Order: sequence, then structure tokens, then C-alpha cells
Amino acid sequence: MEQASQPSNVNEKGPLLGGARQSKFAVFCGQHKLVLIPVTVMILLLPLLGLLALKKRHAHAMNFTSPVVYPSPQGYGAGNWSTAYQKAQSMVANMSFEEMNNVTMGVVDGSNGCVGVSGSAPRLGFPGYCLHDAGNGVRNTDGVNGYASGLHIGASWNATLAYERAQFMGAEFRRKGVNVALGPVVGPIGRIAEGGRNWEAFGADPYLDGILGAQSVIGLQESVIASVKHFVAYEQESNRNPIADSGNTILSTSANLDDQTMHELYLWPFQDLVYAGVGCVMCSYNRINSTYACENSKTINGLLKGELNFQGFVVSDWAGQHSGIPSADAGLDMAMPTTTYWNERQLEQAVNSGALNKTRLMDMATRIVATWYHLGQDQALALGAGMPPNLLLPHNYTDAKDPASKSSLLQQALEGHVLVKNLNGALPLDKPRVLSIFGYDATAQATYVPDGQLFPQSWEVIGLGLPQLEGIASNAPVPDPPEIQNGTLVVGGGSGSNTPAYISSPYDAIQARAYNDDTALFFDFTSTAPSVIASSDACLVFVNEYSSEVWDRPGLADSDSDLLVTNVASACNNTIVVIHSAGIRLVDAWINNPNVTAVLYAHLPGQDAGRAVAQILYGDVSPSGRLPYTVAKQASDFGTLLGPCQNQKNSLSPQCDFTEGTNVDYRSFLARNVTPRYEFGYGLTYTTFDYSGLEIAVNATVTPNATMVAPVYANGTTNDNSNNTNIVIGGQRSLFESVGTVRATISNTGKVAAAEVPQLYLQIPAKSSNSSNPTTRVLRGFQKVMVQPNETAQVSFNLRRKDVSTWDVVRQAWVVPSGKFQVFVGKSVLDTPLTGSFTT
Ligand code: BGC
Repeated sequence: MEQASQPSNVNEKGPLLGGARQSKFAVFCGQHKLVLIPVTVMILLLPLLGLLALKKRHAHAMNFTSPVVYPSPQGYGAGNWSTAYQKAQSMVANMSFEEMNNVTMGVVDGSNGCVGVSGSAPRLGFPGYCLHDAGNGVRNTDGVNGYASGLHIGASWNATLAYERAQFMGAEFRRKGVNVALGPVVGPIGRIAEGGRNWEAFGADPYLDGILGAQSVIGLQESVIASVKHFVAYEQESNRNPIADSGNTILSTSANLDDQTMHELYLWPFQDLVYAGVGCVMCSYNRINSTYACENSKTINGLLKGELNFQGFVVSDWAGQHSGIPSADAGLDMAMPTTTYWNERQLEQAVNSGALNKTRLMDMATRIVATWYHLGQDQALALGAGMPPNLLLPHNYTDAKDPASKSSLLQQALEGHVLVKNLNGALPLDKPRVLSIFGYDATAQATYVPDGQLFPQSWEVIGLGLPQLEGIASNAPVPDPPEIQNGTLVVGGGSGSNTPAYISSPYDAIQARAYNDDTALFFDFTSTAPSVIASSDACLVFVNEYSSEVWDRPGLADSDSDLLVTNVASACNNTIVVIHSAGIRLVDAWINNPNVTAVLYAHLPGQDAGRAVAQILYGDVSPSGRLPYTVAKQASDFGTLLGPCQNQKNSLSPQCDFTEGTNVDYRSFLARNVTPRYEFGYGLTYTTFDYSGLEIAVNATVTPNATMVAPVYANGTTNDNSNNTNIVIGGQRSLFESVGTVRATISNTGKVAAAEVPQLYLQIPAKSSNSSNPTTRVLRGFQKVMVQPNETAQVSFNLRRKDVSTWDVVRQAWVVPSGKFQVFVGKSVLDTPLTGSFTT
């Protein structure tokens, strides 16, 4: 394996307009109206600065810089947005600047349970929006379902299921009076193993996130506006927000990354979701190359609205806005949940004074209203109807659940289970006479009721102490964050948590089986050294691994849970371990113990957790999940990508250099030649599959040097793409065109029906020598196919031009490189029985 070549000058930070400088500028504008002329001159000069910045970046492609990109591209109603834009433009034409200012900002509205409400223009019939969490179901209310979490759907590798889940979820949001569902999550992508929010996204790969995220957008947007988050390079919870520190402010961590890494890894899934038509993008808390994400003109103006031609609106993460006029100029359209920068008509005043271009304010309002029309929110219920602010007070109960969602909820729960070990046919269980059940995760948590005015977020359900809650409130590090939840873990914590209608626990479901099978059940849900009845046919141990927004995980395995497994295994030679896990969970403390006969990662299944795990344990259904991340043998095998960047020098400006480039998760293991315990894509079933018949029919031609492939978004030239027919929503049209297919035949050679997940990996020809990314294989296709015993299925992977392209930092374009592409088809990134190649 090649070694990661390090960028030559990784320590150079060269933001041409850093966050702090932009913020001061904003404050200055607010306080000193007399500086209008210099301000105007500066704004006029910005495009020039941008051009200089671009030149500089080309000369030093590996610099972690965030060049300015102005002016902000105006939405123009590309593609099927044209009707909505016409309507929005005529409404906004009748708005005063004050009204335009009003619709851009969050307002306090205590009459409903929405996590954010945006300003209205009642005179013109625009009521504003109810924005509400999140990607795994409607949160913090009654009458809704708790869906399988993002990571669980990632583990299902089932794009159809992702779509169906989002369809049901979106309809619930709509019935509750929500206009903008704050999901799905495709960032964090899972750069660091201990990342606190990795479980909210689908998995540690941009292609997987892009495909499943796009289907989620399509499903949600049949009812509401989806808000994909968090844009962009938001990979750790530690230092995610500024912290007040004895009169100073410690800024959010700066994710420092190069242009190629941005395109090929972190921007990649967002591009697929924009192409799928997402109406809203939430900018993140972190800084990117030293400039806050919500005032970063390179990422919002340049990448999102320019290169990807995004027509919807950009909303700040909650309290993620750190400046007034600079954030507006950088492309932020809406500030949530309230704002101190735009709340006193500052945008209106800035337009009147010339400090902000009128077209920008009009564009902000137009994008917000156009999205409302485009996604049918002009026909929606009243804001937050069906979501009372306080569930403890009398309210009308709005049941948003569709009875038809039941089978999908169970299917989601089933398909994210990944079986990684199964010795001597330990599973499935076959009418056991005696079963012993252990572990705090086997039964539902002891309480599940609202706590005070709001329904508790999961981090309160698990009983945080005062110091921890204080840490959350002040953005300071949370001391001793919990590693487990006492009770079946069906979802992670924080704003990505959901509100299950019920919690089916493993013990509940197994009890029902025991009744039918005449099985005797013995259990201990509290001890780490339980007594084991010697006649047990099997011992089931249920543990979990918790994770939440706000903190990164303190480790990848909880030692008490490991002790429990080891103790049970010392007395039971058929110990079966089930782990509800909100992310990577190491198992090497006991995985080689011969008495541990089977291990199932049960992830975060939502409210049907118990029902689903019982169907798998008893063999009604063969497990069909595959790991959407890499499990290492030991934590140190993750190298520098184990935990968050720490602000070790106690600097006021924490930095995090993404020197690994695109090599995260399995790419990192490949690039460093480290053997994992269980690799990305891995998972067992109750049958066996054979792979044959590889057919490669790819006709991708090398992008000629002369071809102008970059979208028109460069600084100072034009502010929209409206005259370029090669640009669609999502970017360059040709990127989404097919360049061919790879086919394979899958045979079920075992005795039971099961679903297989054939995966396609490509090794793209070596990139330029100044690249920070050594080439490893990358996921470029997957399918989920049910195959009956002795039958075969043909799978066909479609390759888009995007899938065979790399980002050329000098040409600022996606190019198909010349050379030999290696093709791997198989059951995981390391187990690829079919290999071949094509040449461009
Ligand atoms: C989270 C977002 C969430 C928002 C509203 C923020 O803390 O980062 O993901 O949507 O809160 O609850």
C-alpha cells in the first residue's frame, strides 16, 4: 500500500477573509454608519480579491485556504424550479426590505413545539416556516414513530428502503405542521471513529451517504422540505461551538482541508442530494479553513450555490451564525433559531445604506419563498399544528402515524442488523429448551415520559448529572459522558433522537417466542457477573454503545459491558452477543473466546428493536445488514483518526488539519496497510453466496485538456449559471450521465433465502503527484438482492461519469483520468472474488 503523502505546507493557514475579521467588519458596519463609502468600495473589490485568491490557491493547491467568492449566485429557477421562482419573484417584488429582512430570521413563537420558526410576511400570505428535527423521525412530540437511525439504514445498504422510510417520515412531519424536516445527515461522514454524531449519517463513505441520502430527500420531499446537514466538514463535536473563556472566546474548531479532499469526500454526498432536489441546506458549526461555515463564501457561494447550482435556501445551524452582513454576503439565507445580527432590521438598513447589495436581500427572500412554493408548503397546515409546546398540558392529540408504515418500520429495523460471527450454526436458534438472557440492554429503559416543559432529549433520559448538563449549556466539554444507555438503545442522543410510539425490547419479543416454543427463560439485567443455569442451550447478552450530539465518544468499547460478556462466556459455551451500537464498537476483548459463538451488531433499529432482533435470532429472516464502517482490532489502529482534534495549546483558535486527505475509514486502513477486525461492507447471513460472470461494459473517455468542464461560478465573472445549459441542479450535467455498467451473477448456494449486498469498488488511476491522496479502492456501486436457495440473480451497477472522475484542482473541474481502472466486485471491501479492469 502506498503511504499517505503529506501536503508540503500543512501548517499554512491563509484565509483571505477569516471568520474573526469578517465578524469585526460586521460589527463595525452596524456601529459606524459613516463608513459607507469604504464599505461599498470594499464590496466592489471583493470579486477582485476573489480572483487573486483563486490564483493564489492554484499556485499552492495544497494550502488550506478559504478564498472569498462573491457575489453570491442568485437563484434563478433552474430546471423544475422555474414556476416556483416566478411566483416567489412576484411575491418578493411586493415585499418591503423590512419584510424581506423578516423572512430571513428565526423568531420566538411559544405557541407550538417547532424547534425553529422563521419570520413571515402576513400581508402577502407568507406565514414563515416551522423547522423541526430531524433525520430519524419527528422529535419531541407525541403521535409519531421512532424510525431506524441513519447508520442503521446505512447498514441496510438498501436504497429502496431509505426512500420508503423517508416517505413515511415526511408524511408525519407534514401532519404535524412541520414545513422543514431538519435531515437527512450526510455530514459528519465519520472521519474520526469516536465522532459523536456519526450514527446520524448513513456511513463512513461518501458514495453510500450520497445514494441513501438522495433517496431520503426524494421520500421526505413528497411531503415537506428536507434540510440536508451539516454543511460541511463537520466531523467532531469537541469544540464545535465557541466557548467563553475568561473574557476571551475560543472559536469553533477549524476543519482545514484541501480542495480535492473537499470535492471527493466531504462535498460529494451533498452534491448527490442537491441533484436529488433538496430544498434546504444547513450550514454547520465548525470553521472551514478558518472561516465559519455559515459565513464561508467559498463553501456556500462558490461550491453550493455556484458549482452545485443549488436553488433552495441555506439555514444556519442553531446559533451557528457569527456575523451579520458578511454572513449574508457569503450566502447565508436564514438565521436560526433567532439572530442578534439580523433581528433589528440590520439587513434592511444595510441595503438602504449600500452596505449590502439589494439583490442579495431579494435573493435571500426569493430563495426562501420559492422553496415554499416548489415543495408544496403553500398548501401546508398551520405552523406546528399538532405539536403542542408542552405535552404535559391538555392538548389535542394529533396521530401522525400511518398504519401502513408498520411493515416498513419493521423492515428497516431488520435490515440494519449485521451478523459478524456465527460459529457452528449457533444462530439461528432452534426451539431452545432453556435460554438465559443478560445485560442492561435487553429491556426497555425504566422511564419514558416528558421531563418538564419539553419532551426530554435522549441525553436527559439516560440521566445526566448537573456538571454534564452545565457543560452542554455552555458548550464546554461534557465531563465523563456516558458510554451506554441503561435500557434497549433504539436511537442515539441529541437533536437526532426521535420519539418512539413504543419500545419493543428484546426481552419482550423473546418472551413471546418462549411461550410458543415452550422455552424456559432465566435472566439478570443488572449484574456484570450473573449466575448462569448450566442447562442453558444459549446465553444471550445484550449490551449497547451510546453516542450523542454535543460530545465525542470517550472510547469505542465500554469495559463493564466487556466484563459482562467475558463473565457469561466463562460459564456458558454458547454465548451470543447482541450490541445496539451508535457507531463503531470494538469487540477484541472477547471476540476470540471460543465460547462467544455469535455476535450481532444491532445498531439503532428504532421502535421495533426487539421484534426485529427476535426474528433474526430465531431465523425467520436471515440477517442482511453489512457494516457501513470499519471495525478495528484495537483503538490505536485508527491512528490519527481515532478521536477529535483537541485544542491542546489552549489556543483561542483550535485547528484540525485533515492531512489524511480522502483516506478515512476503509481507505485509511488500505492506505496504511492495517488489517481490520471487520472491514467495511462485511456481514454474514444464514446462507452462502457465489459470485461469477463479471461483465464490464464501460466507455468512459478521458476528459480532453481543452474541454471547459467547470461550471460558470468563478469570482467576479457572473453570479449565476442561468445561461449555461451544461449546468443542472447538482452541477455539471455530464457528471450524472451513465458511462457504462458492471454486471455480476450472484448464486445462493446455501439452504435458506437471504439478501446479499454485492458491492462494486474501483481503483481509480493514480492522481497527480502533488495529490495528498494515495489511491485506494473506493465504493462506486451496491445493490441489495434477495436470492432464493439454488437460484441466481443478475446485478448491474450503473457508473455515472462522476463515479469515474477525480477533482482536478488546477483546472477546477471533474476529469476522467487516463489509465487503467481496476474493478472489484464482492461481499466487502476486502472480499472481492471478481476482479477486472477497464481503460480510459
Ligand atoms: C444541531 C442540528 C439541529 C438543531 C436544531 C443543533 O444543535 O446541530 O442538527 O437540527 O440543533 O435542534
